[in-house]
Amino acid sequence: MQPLIVVNFKTYSTAMGQKAIKLARAMERASTNNVRMVAVVSAFDLFAVKQAAPTLEVWSQHLDPVGQGSFTGWLQPDNAIEQGAQGTIINHAEHKVDITHVKNLMQQLPNEFPICACAADVHEAHQLAGLGPTFIAVEPPELIGGDISVTTADPAIVSETVDAVRGINPNVRVLCGAGVKDGNDVRTAVQLGAHGVLLASGVTKAEDIDAVLSDLVAGLE
Ligand code: G3P
Repeated sequence: MQPLIVVNFKTYSTAMGQKAIKLARAMERASTNNVRMVAVVSAFDLFAVKQAAPTLEVWSQHLDPVGQGSFTGWLQPDNAIEQGAQGTIINHAEHKVDITHVKNLMQQLPNEFPICACAADVHEAHQLAGLGPTFIAVEPPELIGGDISVTTADPAIVSETVDAVRGINPNVRVLCGAGVKDGNDVRTAVQLGAHGVLLASGVTKAEDIDAVLSDLVAGLE
């Protein structure tokens, strides 16, 4: 199974609207057979990004377990899928939800639709693993947006999450994130047992996006 490089566009000015399209095209160019590259974009940009970079896997940053009808302002899953969403993250450190939200969302989504539940620590990863999401991404909140990668600052959280999740459900794959910036961080993540990385600022704030993306991908070779 290919390791993942998942880039969360958040609401960075460099990764919304026309810039989201530009970044998605750069990710599409950097993709190789060795990597599963995923762009996690604003709901507003799903359709345009999918149209502009059709071979790139595109996920939503959040979804709500609501049906069709009287649900003003919520991110309705069928609507997201129609707009091009091919997966979603949920419970990101910047958009926390309770575990019932994750459970109800999983029940509502099609079986093959990947869902990546984010966890702040091993304990939360352990709880989420019981629900059986496709992926769990462990990201210590204090390292998010910083200069030191979780793989350097706290490698134990990665390996301990891998062990904890494997003990609950070996089908759930673990990603790690926070401060991931380069190919070396990606390589270390995989050595620690992760199935890939979830990152944002290392790409969205990069001066030379193509160089950063190719270095990240090189970490998997
Ligand atoms: O979703 C990824 C994110 O929270 C990590 O952000 O900027 O530390 O790569 P960053």
